[in-house]
Amino acid sequence: MTPKSVRITGWGMYAPERRLTNADLERVVDTSDEWIVSRTGIRERRIAARHETTATLAAIAGKRAIAVAGLEPDDIDVILVATLTPDYWMPSTGALVKEAIGNTRAAAMDVSAACSGLVYAYSIADAYLRTGMFKHALVVGSEVLSRYLDFSDRGTCILFGDGAGAVVLSASDEEGGGMQGVELTTDPDGAYMIWLPSGGSRSPATGQTLARGEHYIRMEGRETYRYATKTMATTALKAIERAGWKPEDIDLFIPHQANVRIIESVAKGLGLPMDKMFVNLDRYGNTSAASVGLALAEAVDSGRIQIGDKIVLVAFGAGLTSGAIALEWTADPTCGRRADSVEPVASVREPVDWASVDPIPERLRQVLEREGPNVTVDDVAPGEPEPARHEMPV
Ligand code: ACO
Repeated sequence: MTPKSVRITGWGMYAPERRLTNADLERVVDTSDEWIVSRTGIRERRIAARHETTATLAAIAGKRAIAVAGLEPDDIDVILVATLTPDYWMPSTGALVKEAIGNTRAAAMDVSAACSGLVYAYSIADAYLRTGMFKHALVVGSEVLSRYLDFSDRGTCILFGDGAGAVVLSASDEEGGGMQGVELTTDPDGAYMIWLPSGGSRSPATGQTLARGEHYIRMEGRETYRYATKTMATTALKAIERAGWKPEDIDLFIPHQANVRIIESVAKGLGLPMDKMFVNLDRYGNTSAASVGLALAEAVDSGRIQIGDKIVLVAFGAGLTSGAIALEWTADPTCGRRADSVEPVASVREPVDWASVDPIPERLRQVLEREGPNVTVDDVAPGEPEPARHEMPV
């Protein structure tokens, strides 16, 4: 049976405990807090601990979203994890997340659309649910970008952070609510504006590619900025028009948290004040596919979203992709408190007979180790029943 609507019933986020401030980054590259804040709005970002991965972050955010929806993990029929920093090329991070949240029956996979990933994955889940094929979908954006950054490149390493944001979408027998308009675009003209050269079939990782730092994210910042300011407003507008609404009808925008100047320019392009734009990038930086989900969860939990509100999720990212969803909010925001019952821990299946190297990039490790006090890091020790724990030297 096809449902009358598909609605967000749960939301959740997780950000690793460890903060990396602009002052920390001043010790790594030639930059300053003043430059970073004035050019981007970012003050600090979170860094995943050694034992954390994209899958563990996703599992915690996902479990929280499921608790908020008042569901059990096994109620979820399909799991979509949007990420550009998967734990492995295979298996999918979605497969690892499925087990980590305690689900035994869902189909699980990853969605690759960079920073637009959560919006793309939401639209896919919404389409599944509208056909009646599935009843509940878990959509997660999760990233551990800190392991894909060149901490000698001041143009990129200051921008990104780690985190996860999730929503549960549920088929409903009630009319109205949920996604009312959607716009998705992909423009390969900008395919190499943000890219990660090696590790794929075009350029498999070798000693040579590693020596050239081709396993790190590269970006043409200025070109990307120009594209983002243009495309975010037009993409949002198309989704709003498809919903039959006008920009001034929107109660709150949840934009991709890349740069506050980009968000200001979107507000200007739509003729709206900045108080219609939710901003939390000052505390998390750009968390790519996680950013919209993480911002949405914080917006609901901080009282910025009420039942009946018209919300727009809008993002852009590598591809170049862009996506926007205009939706009507139907869930009781106080249900967010249910997430408090979920401990911020997740256990992901580890491979047997294989030990990974220290996943934290050398230059980042030096700053983290210099910073104290009592930074706890967990050694990755795949195959061992209990991960080794030790205190970093202060
Ligand atoms: N600290 C100090 N100076 C810096 C830094 C830094 N961290 N980075 C660059 N500079 C310098 C540059 O070298 C340049 O110096 P020069 O004039 O002597 O050559 C000067 O600052 C200006 O550089 P611009 O690149 O023009 O700076 P801009 O104002 O454009 O800001 C930024 C750079 C923040 C990267 C901006 O272009 C931006 O936000 N772009 C969009 C990036 C983005 O959103 N990416 C996410 C994509 S999403 C995804 O899918 C991964």
